[in-house]
Amino acid sequence: MNSDTPIIEIEGLTVRFGEGEDERVAVDTASFSVAPGETFGLVGESGSGKSTILRAIMGLAPCEATVMRVAGQDIRRGHGKDFYAKVQMVFQDPYEALHPRHTIWRQLMEPARIQKIQDAEARGRAALDSVGLAQALRWRYPHQLSGGQRQRVAIARALMLQPDILLLDEPTSALDVSVQAEILNLLRDLQEERGLTFLMVTHDLGVVAHMCDRTAVMQAGKLVETLSIEALVHGGAVDPYTRALIAASETYGEAPAKPHIQTI
Ligand SMILES: Nc1ncnc2c1ncn2[C@@H]1O[C@H](COP(=O)(O)OP(=O)(O)O)[C@@H](O)[C@H]1O
Ligand SMILES: [Mg+2]
Repeated sequence: MNSDTPIIEIEGLTVRFGEGEDERVAVDTASFSVAPGETFGLVGESGSGKSTILRAIMGLAPCEATVMRVAGQDIRRGHGKDFYAKVQMVFQDPYEALHPRHTIWRQLMEPARIQKIQDAEARGRAALDSVGLAQALRWRYPHQLSGGQRQRVAIARALMLQPDILLLDEPTSALDVSVQAEILNLLRDLQEERGLTFLMVTHDLGVVAHMCDRTAVMQAGKLVETLSIEALVHGGAVDPYTRALIAASETYGEAPAKPHIQTI
């Protein structure tokens, strides 16, 4: 794939929940594309449809679209098993994402078993190393780890299949402030080492400024504006809603050591 070709290309994505009078359009004709190696943010208030976009890409939400090409596949017609080797998702709450009664090692081996990976054990050890977890932790259960360690396990599991794309749904929102920067920095390091593409949902403009190359701003299911982080930080936002978000967030663009979560 040449580097000008987007690795994620979405046009006219619409997701509806419910029927008849109860129908609700959670995502309304959203369009965006992400270049290989880019970190693209989806930012907006709670309920604006950010997670639903990620879920639609993973095949977890009913959707329609005129274009939905991800990692070289037209996913409007379904997702092949190899799609999940290329695209993995990391959820907001690692405690919910991990199986409570499986050891860390078993959580790592599971995706490798499903995809029939031959060198699963070597990959598992390497995955633990790459997220900075001691090998000895592999026999523990999720409740025996800290929140930050659990999110590291979730990231290690996502890396097991050596994906090209990570969909990150508020990956630090459930963590203590002191741990958030560690996880964000880990993600950046992993991206650099592996040339990963990130599509990252957050409600925090500080996180966007620290992590992203570009971001889309969502309001009530619509993408109201897509802009570079340069424009975001230097007053280049045009849409009134984007400008209100920025005004409401005093800390966006702050020093990366202290990302600050605030509800906007
Ligand atoms: N499975 C579902 N069934 C019905 N409504 C849903 C479902 N998932 C999300 N929604 C609704 O879609 C809208 C967008 O939700 P979501 O994508 O989770 O927002 P965000 O991630 O931006 O907070 C919300 O109104 C939410 O209640
Ligand atoms: Mg969400």
